[in-house]
Amino acid sequence: MIDGKNILLGVTGGIASYKVVDLCSRLVKEGANLKIIMTKAATKFVSPLTFETMGRCKVYTDIFEGHHDHVYHVDLAKWADLFLIAPLSANTLAKITYGIADNFLTACLLAYDKDLIVAPAMNSNMYTNVATQKNLLTLVNRGVKIIEPSEGLLACNVIGPGRMEEPENIVKYIEDYFTEKDLLNKKVIVTAGPTIEPIDYVRYITNHSSGKMGYHIANEAKKRGAEVILISGPVEPFKISGIKKVDIKTNLDLQKEIDKEFTDSDALIMAAAPTDYKVKDVADKKIKKSGQNLSLDLIENIDILKYISSKKDKQIVIGFAAETENLIKNAQKKLNEKKVDYIIANNLKMEGAGFNVDTNIASLVSKDGVEHLEKMTKKELANKILDLIK
Ligand code: PMT
Repeated sequence: MIDGKNILLGVTGGIASYKVVDLCSRLVKEGANLKIIMTKAATKFVSPLTFETMGRCKVYTDIFEGHHDHVYHVDLAKWADLFLIAPLSANTLAKITYGIADNFLTACLLAYDKDLIVAPAMNSNMYTNVATQKNLLTLVNRGVKIIEPSEGLLACNVIGPGRMEEPENIVKYIEDYFTEKDLLNKKVIVTAGPTIEPIDYVRYITNHSSGKMGYHIANEAKKRGAEVILISGPVEPFKISGIKKVDIKTNLDLQKEIDKEFTDSDALIMAAAPTDYKVKDVADKKIKKSGQNLSLDLIENIDILKYISSKKDKQIVIGFAAETENLIKNAQKKLNEKKVDYIIANNLKMEGAGFNVDTNIASLVSKDGVEHLEKMTKKELANKILDLIK
């Protein structure tokens, strides 16, 4: 994770440097220790004071400044866990390719011997120019990680490739870089969101699950190197990448999709909230108002977890318990009846827990006992749950 990591941020001359102010702020929020080097050209676009304020750190611009007690470009190279250059201009790219060390940033880079990540940004013609492409290829061959620029309307009023990746995605890239790949070669099925069961042609039964818990588990598992299959009920869209996602509606859909993936999987994490009841006879047209009360005949729905656990072989199966009372007692009952390895128990009535919030308060229940966890973000809880299958 980014928290506590020493990140040396190099900023070169380009209009995209204004976006790097936001990047700085995001990295600081994630807990990074920043130090920043700006080229002279970069200081023409954004003042060092802005970066000093947002990065809460010193900004270095002049290689000849204050060398009586430190050789700063060498010290910084040693200090950094990661060197990130954003935006990377065509000019600095060319200098890096040839090992030129004519300013603080390029000199520091020559003294630096760990991983380098760069986010190029420039005019489309400059980007596609054979010289730039050749330079980028040289960097790739040296093991430099390149965050490719996207296409769009550039500051020079041209539409094409060359726009620096958005700060939010650069942070995700760095987070991914620092995450230990301890779930490599593991296939993890994650379910998220509610299921819906039809009443008639226009109406259905469902619940308040937003999918946040399940999507965080899927995203964190992906970051940790797992092959992730996310089976999701209808929820607001979330950003995911590199994850196979299957959309479902009913319990039967969910069961069928899990069945397809379960045999060769290593773990199933059921964060979804399937509906426990469904209508016995679903009308294939809209039920009209009749001026009378209407009763629906509800029958118990398939218990997917119970069904799938009966097929369990090497897989670790983790269920949740969403309760409003007797949390641990009910969770232990579910652990035994559904024959799962762990139950993540959450009380829906507690503030900051359960449906549609960004935090959760959970207890990990297994045959070995109960571990009560503090309130934490769903992302943090996702990692605690993934530690169980590690
Ligand atoms: O999606 P969010 O808004 O982020 O909210 C998160 C959450 C509250 C949905 C999540 O933390 C959670 O508790 N998920 C499980 C919800 C649920 O259905 O709980 P349950 O106690 O009714 O079911 C126990 C377990 O059996 C669950 O793993 C559930 O997925 C599974 N189940 C339930 C019913 C059913 N018919 N088949 C099942 O497999």
